[in-house]
Amino acid sequence: MKKNSQRVIMISGANRGIGKAIREKLQSENYLLSLGLRNPGAFRDSIEKHQTENVHLHQYDARDPESATSWVRSTLEHFGRIDGLVNNAGILHPMGLEDDREELLDDMWEVNAKAPLRLTRLTFPHLKKSGRGRVIDVISMSGKRVKGNWIGYSMSKYAALAASRTARMQGWDDGIRVTAICPGYVQSDMTLENAPNYPQEQMSRPQDLALIVSTLLQLDNESAIPEVMMNCVFEAM
Ligand SMILES: NC(=O)c1ccc[n+]([C@@H]2O[C@H](COP(=O)([O-])OP(=O)(O)OC[C@H]3O[C@@H](n4cnc5c(N)ncnc54)[C@H](OP(=O)(O)O)[C@@H]3O)[C@@H](O)[C@H]2O)c1
Repeated sequence: MKKNSQRVIMISGANRGIGKAIREKLQSENYLLSLGLRNPGAFRDSIEKHQTENVHLHQYDARDPESATSWVRSTLEHFGRIDGLVNNAGILHPMGLEDDREELLDDMWEVNAKAPLRLTRLTFPHLKKSGRGRVIDVISMSGKRVKGNWIGYSMSKYAALAASRTARMQGWDDGIRVTAICPGYVQSDMTLENAPNYPQEQMSRPQDLALIVSTLLQLDNESAIPEVMMNCVFEAM
């Protein structure tokens, strides 16, 4: 089995929130990281130089298919291989059933559903070559059940879960293991903006999600975990 320092993991949206916690955890474990960021220049300026050692930065906007292609290509040029993909970047427009702003629906479809599928598709041939490829999709409990009135977000996350399950099936014979992580509320800008009445300290911590990602990357092909649900409040199953 390859050492962490020989395994290349791509992470989208690693500059803040859950993605940042995942990036910090995997950096502490010596993985080679390729980060897809909307503004890599600003990211580079905002962190210490030692934090970009063994880290490749590339411009990536989930709304721009060409940036996905060029990010994958540049990861291969830089590291020569891809062993894992963490589809983390996502958005929430809090639109409800009677909100007719379909452009918001389209935007969440683009960023939350189509973009992770695109990255999975582009990395799949390289994950197959790895023999131990991993795709970790940060979905949501909103992709599993409906609660409240965030219809567009839920629809996009249900679709993302369908894509994740398809990838799991299609990659199995080539050693690719795909996991959908489905948290409820997690401390981040997303919940600060969209769930301001729910105290942040009562939400799951991004570091706990990062711990899950780290564990998933360590598990052998024979110990695959299809889905992880994480709750900060009781939910009946
Ligand atoms: N927080 C929660 O309670 C919760 C619960 C379940 C699932 N999730 C999911 O977890 C993931 C991370 O969420 P978070 O809570 O960490 O949210 P966040 O703090 O709002 O961070 C979102 C991340 O996604 C990136 N992003 C957004 N739009 C993008 C685009 N068009 N192209 C590239 N990157 C883009 C952001 O980059 P910029 O800095 O450039 O905007 C940022 O890095 C999302 O998929 C979200 O749906 C969150």
